[in-house]
Amino acid sequence: MHTEPSRRPFDLPRFQELSERSRTPVAHLEWPAELGSTNDALAERLTADPDSWPDFSVLGTDFQSAGRGRLGRVWTVPPGACLTFSLPVRVPAAFPIEMIGWLPVVTGWCVAEALGAAGAGAGVKWPNDVLVDGRKICGILTRAHPAVGGTIVIIGIGINVSLTAAELPVPTATSLLLAGGSTDREALLAGVLERLRPAVAEVLAAGEGAGASASAAGVREAMVTLGADVRVELPGDEHFTGRAVALDDTGALVVDVGGARRRVSAGDVVHARAL
Ligand code: BTN
Repeated sequence: MHTEPSRRPFDLPRFQELSERSRTPVAHLEWPAELGSTNDALAERLTADPDSWPDFSVLGTDFQSAGRGRLGRVWTVPPGACLTFSLPVRVPAAFPIEMIGWLPVVTGWCVAEALGAAGAGAGVKWPNDVLVDGRKICGILTRAHPAVGGTIVIIGIGINVSLTAAELPVPTATSLLLAGGSTDREALLAGVLERLRPAVAEVLAAGEGAGASASAAGVREAMVTLGADVRVELPGDEHFTGRAVALDDTGALVVDVGGARRRVSAGDVVHARAL
């Protein structure tokens, strides 16, 4: 369904009603009209008063003046045009650190599923972009926050909701509006959380077995990078090309380079169509 851009402030009571209906009420929710970056602001709040921010609490905003993207990039969108929020997840001390890479990709999968329910069929691009028709609609940025008794992973999510073509940050991006999906931000947030909570809980409980979890299977199914010819860009300016063939047990991308397999746990990929 194609709806007109809606730039009204996020409707907290309506969201709370929707999330209670989907049996995923949020323990703590703050939604100031403007913030620098929800990831940074959540880190500050977790440092000051961690107990007020149980897992899957939400800090969102209608406008970020200093939104952060991956690899030091900025994330800038017009006020009210994006669903922009961050949430904390406490990682048990016993959880194997090499499995932590599952959290961002599982997040991408849950966002893709929620976008599908909103009328825009989506896939995941490794490591954690969400695409609709090959165009980026969502970016995810995670950061580790040291805490007493372990680590809190801050998961930051930005979904392009009502951006018009003229407002896209790059021509290879898209929005729910442009993809013909629903631009109901409250329903979208409820849809993401409804999927994310059980999926993350499953991965954390699986520990060493995270790669064999149902969530990992969902990620592999939704991963449009698999089977694609890719250019892999590694931290520090190194790059190579090959065909993405698998996600290993830790969520790392396995790339076939002329018959030899290379494992990539950190970096970026460009799909052949965009090369
Ligand atoms: C990327 O694709 O480069 C990641 C973009 C992540 C953007 C989100 S918006 C909410 C959260 N707060 C931030 O400052 N960034 C993330």
